[in-house]
Amino acid sequence: MILEFMRDDHRSCDHLYTDAEAALLAKEVQKAQEAFEAFAQATLHHFDMEEKELFLTFEKRTGMMGGPTQMMRYEHQQLRSLIESMRLALRENRHSDFFGIGESMMIMLQQHNMKEEQMLYPMIDRTLGDDGALMVQTLQDMAR
Ligand SMILES: [Fe+2]
Ligand SMILES: [Fe+2]
Repeated sequence: MILEFMRDDHRSCDHLYTDAEAALLAKEVQKAQEAFEAFAQATLHHFDMEEKELFLTFEKRTGMMGGPTQMMRYEHQQLRSLIESMRLALRENRHSDFFGIGESMMIMLQQHNMKEEQMLYPMIDRTLGDDGALMVQTLQDMAR
């Protein structure tokens, strides 16, 4: 339940990133900037959904504070900083920097997402049980 919802959100972030990259490769800078902002906003919102609701609830229910959620929060911080560097590179027309940082960011993001999909979300689904539907609703209602 959580797994499906959050995995779909990972996929839609990926699409936005692909759009940004494709636009920049086609030298459509304005379009690339818009697509990248959409990617950044969607990804940061996704991290917020996890940190402010999903992980918090999981930590409260299990009492597991220093485990996988802590590692995921730490990786979010690294990803946020890479996304910010990409935003600056794009704004300053440093396109090769943008692609370079983008490559590292995407590798880290894909590994991060895989850990969540293969390990953490299934754990959260087992922990929440029937309350999973309510959690999905809460996440959907979070303002972007
Ligand atoms: Fe995450
Ligand atoms: Fe995630």
